[in-house]
Amino acid sequence: MSAAALAGRPIDAARRALAERFESAGIDSPELDARLLVGHVLGLDLTGMIASSDRPLTADESMRLDVLAGRRLAGEPVARILGHKEFWGLPLALSPETLVPRPDTETVVELALEMLRESPANKSPSIADLGTGTGAILLALLSELPDATGIGTDISVEALGTATANAVHLGLALRANFIHCDFASALTGPFDLVVSNPPYIRTGDIANLAVEVRAHDPLKALDGGADGLDAYRILIPQAARILRPCGALVVEAGKEQAVQIEGLMTAAGLMPHASPKADLGGIPRAVGARKMP
Ligand SMILES: C[S@@+](CC[C@H](N)C(=O)[O-])C[C@H]1O[C@@H](n2cnc3c(N)ncnc32)[C@H](O)[C@@H]1O
Repeated sequence: MSAAALAGRPIDAARRALAERFESAGIDSPELDARLLVGHVLGLDLTGMIASSDRPLTADESMRLDVLAGRRLAGEPVARILGHKEFWGLPLALSPETLVPRPDTETVVELALEMLRESPANKSPSIADLGTGTGAILLALLSELPDATGIGTDISVEALGTATANAVHLGLALRANFIHCDFASALTGPFDLVVSNPPYIRTGDIANLAVEVRAHDPLKALDGGADGLDAYRILIPQAARILRPCGALVVEAGKEQAVQIEGLMTAAGLMPHASPKADLGGIPRAVGARKMP
């Protein structure tokens, strides 16, 4: 359906037509994607769209919608088109050098909060987020813990700029610092909590990922080496060095990686948490460990 075909249609009919077009193209969430793109072009949230559902699209609106729909049909994720993504209820800006934060990663935030609660001595916890990207995990934790402070590191200077802008926008900048280094190499600690969602895709699997991921997420955020575990081999011993006694480490794991990650934690002298926390799909996603007292 072209821009000409959308022009003059009521907003709701145009949204439905777009959703059908996305569905026939095999897009996973056609209704949501159509609603977000229409809302973006019109500058309306869901309530505003419902209130204006009968208003016809102007020629300019339909043209802009058609351009964005073309990008989505070519495999660009809606979050990249909009330039932002919600994580833990926080609106986060994206840049080409940042991963789009995933709902699965909220499991890391959940387990980190649980493990902090198990050590109530930490009234104002210090947190390190290794490979922070948009700052998603660190900023989510700081939003939940008003007395916490944290440092996010990344190998990408541009990602650190995006994380800093997100911290400012969310009013968390006074409690968050961002440092350019290789995971924890420039950190001394001690920290009460270290978190990380490192690159963990096997190099050989990257070409088979969905176009939304392989063509739009930065390779630095994906490539975990031949077996996907390269980053864990570096950052787990680093975390053991910078954690204070009884401090917690929580990392995100790829499918079928949790057992090997626990092995790396044990080898670094950490005590794995009772069991990994599963994501909504039942995959063990967040793996925790504690430094011995
Ligand atoms: C999977 S992304 C996770 C981003 C963010 N923490 C999230 O959960 O949305 C991994 C991040 O690690 C960063 N990274 C990759 N190698 C790194 C390294 N050696 N040292 C620090 N950060 C690194 C990437 O630039 C990317 O931002």
